[in-house]
Amino acid sequence: MSDADDAPASAHRQLYDELQQRREEAAKGGGEERIERQHEKDKLTARERLDILLDDGSFEELGTFVRHQESNFGLDENRPYGDGVVTGYGTVHGRLVYVFSQDFTVYGGSLGRAHADKIVNIMEKALENGAPLIGLNDSGGARIQEGVKSLGGYADIFKLNTDASGVIPQISAVMGPCAGGAVYSPAITDVTFMVEETSYMFVTGPHVVKTVTQEDVTAGELGGATTHATKSGVSHVTCKNDVDCLRRIRTLLRYLPQNCEEDPPRVPCEEVDSALDPDALDALVPEAPNKPYDMHDVITQITDAEDFFEIQPDFGENLITGFSRMGGRPVGIVANQPAVLAGVLDIDASVKGARFVRFCDAFNVPLLVLEDVPGFLPGTDQEWNGIIKEGAKLLYAFCEATVPRITVITRKAYGGAYDVMNSTHIGGDLNFAWSTAEVAVMGPESAVDIIYRDELEDADDREAAKDNFVEQYRDAFATPYVAAEYGYVDDVIKPSETRERLIRGFDMLENKVVNSPPKKHGNIPL
Ligand code: HXC
Repeated sequence: MSDADDAPASAHRQLYDELQQRREEAAKGGGEERIERQHEKDKLTARERLDILLDDGSFEELGTFVRHQESNFGLDENRPYGDGVVTGYGTVHGRLVYVFSQDFTVYGGSLGRAHADKIVNIMEKALENGAPLIGLNDSGGARIQEGVKSLGGYADIFKLNTDASGVIPQISAVMGPCAGGAVYSPAITDVTFMVEETSYMFVTGPHVVKTVTQEDVTAGELGGATTHATKSGVSHVTCKNDVDCLRRIRTLLRYLPQNCEEDPPRVPCEEVDSALDPDALDALVPEAPNKPYDMHDVITQITDAEDFFEIQPDFGENLITGFSRMGGRPVGIVANQPAVLAGVLDIDASVKGARFVRFCDAFNVPLLVLEDVPGFLPGTDQEWNGIIKEGAKLLYAFCEATVPRITVITRKAYGGAYDVMNSTHIGGDLNFAWSTAEVAVMGPESAVDIIYRDELEDADDREAAKDNFVEQYRDAFATPYVAAEYGYVDDVIKPSETRERLIRGFDMLENKVVNSPPKKHGNIPL
């Protein structure tokens, strides 16, 4: 071979070497020192996170060499590749997802114009190609040096989050700071994960809080994972560390379809015909009507043998929400929790339930409702804070849901809460009541106080008279059979029969179609 033949090959080699060098530079982000600092805080880097989130070797990066084109406030001296965010696509359990992962080692993961444009690019692709979007947030917020361009970038993302809402699942993980208006992108998405100790979200940080309200509060108290899991309800899933968070995102995706046009993925299931322990289930509801029991035990007994993926487990605990499977089919479970506040519906529980029902409905996840509810929580606190409009959210959410919906009344179905909790009247497809169920306008004690007020006042022995009336009321109303006679309850069943009846019910409803009246959009009470 002549020298002339060699020349292009060697020129190419030089180019390939340069490409490799540039790739290595891009992969380093903000450099070794800052990566070390990230690790010292028990945080993984943007790329390490993607390695865990995505199937091995599936990540395809886009925009590797994007860098900002700014020249203000010294930015021109430091133009790292990637501009503080790693973006692209890959697979989770073999299914396509789009991802962005903010790199705190570059300008603190702050969002400038180029950074925003990279996120916008993959959001548009996720929307056009109908696949979930997962955002790993770790950022100091708007990049201060880029001023209004950063704000514009955020606004572009908010608009796309809203356009994508209900079209593709959008999942946010907050894995570091998330400050200022940046919190509103996770807030618009479907599920927000937070990591204990290392993540926080707030509109204004502790310093501004101190200046404006004179309150002394740490970042963690103001907007840490526990705060948002227990007090505000902003976070839906609390994770121990980065790895736990990324693994749990993978698990959640098992219950969701790629987009609103698809059904969620089914898995094979052989054990379809019996509860885990039929005797235990038949004995679960205590004989004393006001004695609590844990509705999680019912969920464990009747669903497929796998973990229940609970959403907001530490907020509005009187209502349980989460994903599981029945006969291999994903279902969204909404269940009153008699072990907390007797399972009463209050503001937090109503809003939590409403959001979950709408999430399931948007993505074709059938709903299973387990009902044991004494009614709405009375009192000035609830009334003055709007239990009317907040409770109406849950009612509205069930009324508009078109997915298959089955209710099981395990014990109490009292008052307005009977209507709200997916009754047949508001579109529930099947309504089963355990033989332990009590379907009535209110509980016997309160009912007797009202309808027998005069008789009780005149009675020589008020207590004995009341006991007598309570027993009469209980016999007449506190059973499932009155509701069953009117057809409001489709069947009265033994608890141990529940699993089989539900699986058959969901099979029967598989091709359900509802033609809702045409409209631009409804006006859910906000
Ligand atoms: C540019 C930023 C930055 C920002 C951090 N950095 N935030 N650069 N714009 N917003 C840089 C730092 O200069 C530093 O650079 C590196 O990131 C790491 O920051 P540190 O402060 O050293 O880290 P740490 O001590 O962990 O503190 C992290 C932090 C803090 C809590 C996020 O940096 C901070 O308070 N930043 C400002 C947060 C903020 O107020 N953002 C604007 C919010 S308003 P070097 O070179 O040293 O590594 C907003 C509006 C959005 O976001 C509006 C949307 C509607």
